[in-house]
Amino acid sequence: MHSKVVERGKKFITPAFAWSTEIEIVRGEGTFVYDRRGKKYLDFTCGTATTNIGHCPPRVVEAAQKQMEKLIHAGGNYYYESVVDLCDELITITPDPIDMFFFSNSGAEANEGAIKLARYVTKRTNIIAFRGAFHGRTLGCISLTTSNVKYRRDYGPFLPGVYIAPFPYAQQCPLNHDAQFCAGECECTTILESMFRHEVRPEEVAAVIIEPIQGEGGYVPAPKPFLAKLRELCDHHGIMLILDEVQTGFGRTAKWFACEHYDVIPDILVMAKGIASGFPLSALGANRKVMEKWSPGAHGTTFGGNPVSCAAAVATIETIKKDGLLEQATELSRHLFNRLTDIKNDYSIVSDVRGFGYMIGIEFVNGREPDPEAAKKIRKTCEKNGLLLLSCGLYGHVIRFLPPLTATKEELDAALDILSDAIKKATPMIRV
Ligand SMILES: Cc1ncc(COP(=O)(O)O)c(C=O)c1O
Repeated sequence: MHSKVVERGKKFITPAFAWSTEIEIVRGEGTFVYDRRGKKYLDFTCGTATTNIGHCPPRVVEAAQKQMEKLIHAGGNYYYESVVDLCDELITITPDPIDMFFFSNSGAEANEGAIKLARYVTKRTNIIAFRGAFHGRTLGCISLTTSNVKYRRDYGPFLPGVYIAPFPYAQQCPLNHDAQFCAGECECTTILESMFRHEVRPEEVAAVIIEPIQGEGGYVPAPKPFLAKLRELCDHHGIMLILDEVQTGFGRTAKWFACEHYDVIPDILVMAKGIASGFPLSALGANRKVMEKWSPGAHGTTFGGNPVSCAAAVATIETIKKDGLLEQATELSRHLFNRLTDIKNDYSIVSDVRGFGYMIGIEFVNGREPDPEAAKKIRKTCEKNGLLLLSCGLYGHVIRFLPPLTATKEELDAALDILSDAIKKATPMIRV
């Protein structure tokens, strides 16, 4: 039976907004959320990869409360300390030479800003995005989003000048290449280069935008040589490389940003989600030389860089640093991958376990076909047993395993036990 809040929500909130569960949560603390009856859940959705340091982290709560007593809103009219403090912190964690920022409220808004900046600075119009990408839900962002046609259906026409290139997702490769092939001589870069000969001259491309690890598209990490080659192509043709690190940022992969795993530095870095532990905030960062070409008034916002959100972001970054959470996640994620790999080896419905740090995708198949039914069943069993998980991928056949960086080894093990039990229930067949 639904709670009264769920019933009222169903009545008044548009069905276009699809909730991932039908439970009502009244409180969150650390790794856990609690429903109205006091049932406790391990929250491995992390508010869709946002509460990276757990729910209501004490330093963040305190910083936000203090800021609320002083100034809640500035509206772009005057300077205030928390936004500048945040810049000081961001400079210490974003890759060199990123040293200037624009703040907004959501990932989509920041991606819009990134596209505007790239067009403004290069005086070129075209954008290259990748098959399977998710960049947000504004009209500009859905023009770049192809993780699922449901995000685009009946909304066209889209932003002109957007070209979609193939992304190396071995499990769904139309050319039937395997992961080893995709990680090496990936055909996708060859196809992109041929797009430059057939479809759009590289001299007319403003930006290439990519998630280093596709999120909504199925938790698919780009192979390292692929991203390196993209950087090389962008440099060669004067194209700006935008990394959408909305989901991969702020410790999610056990580094501040996923690009550190790749040794690739973007021209524009897009950040949101985990930046402020759940307060609405996003940012795009670029080098001063690029930012200074963006004339005063060329972009703006009323709510972006809200003083309370910025104070929360400063406290979030301080917490990750002071508590050594990246180091802890690096260490514990080895344990996680080992246990998940054991699960993969035991159950033939698990075809892949992939990712970096605490951004892990578990792919379910029936034979060679994606198996969304198995993923759904497993997720539901986990929910019943006190573990919240999200799915992703074109067919919803990938389960995202997203612990907060603050999770203890015991909490990780408890979640893994619930998950492996649910997989066992969904498939009694054990590989020999
Ligand atoms: C990679 C990526 N980019 C952009 C977005 C959009 O962010 P928002 O929902 O805050 O607009 C998301 C959201 O899931 C995302 O995962």
